[in-house]
Amino acid sequence: MNTRIDWVALRSAAVQAAALAYCPYSLLQVGAAALCDNGRTVIGCNVENASYGLSLCAECAMAGQLRLSGGGRFMAVACRSGAGELLMPCGRCREIIHELGGPSCLLDTPHGIRSIEELLPDAFSS
Ligand code: THU
Repeated sequence: MNTRIDWVALRSAAVQAAALAYCPYSLLQVGAAALCDNGRTVIGCNVENASYGLSLCAECAMAGQLRLSGGGRFMAVACRSGAGELLMPCGRCREIIHELGGPSCLLDTPHGIRSIEELLPDAFSS
């Protein structure tokens, strides 16, 4: 499965998504990009709020985009800042990725490509 994933393109899509972020409070542009099992790539960016805790993570926006643009399942996910730095999804977003990608969904991490199952052992699941 690994060989079919263009990680360079996925990382680049995440950086491009980050450029669309609304982040006047943290000033951290976050972009997420996922390759889906139907061959599509979906993206998301963070959308902050004056009530800081209401801010939406890039991965949440990406989850909405997945559903709104035709569905499918996440196969591989990359998250980047606007400056191109690798960012890891927070715990909540790992659950969201797990829900929509399943345990074998791959993530780009500082330690290489890992499955979401490795990054979120014993995830909550229905
Ligand atoms: N953020 C994400 O977009 N994804 C994460 O997984 C963690 C954090 C955003 C939320 C907020 O807009 C900014 O990063 C700083 O916390």
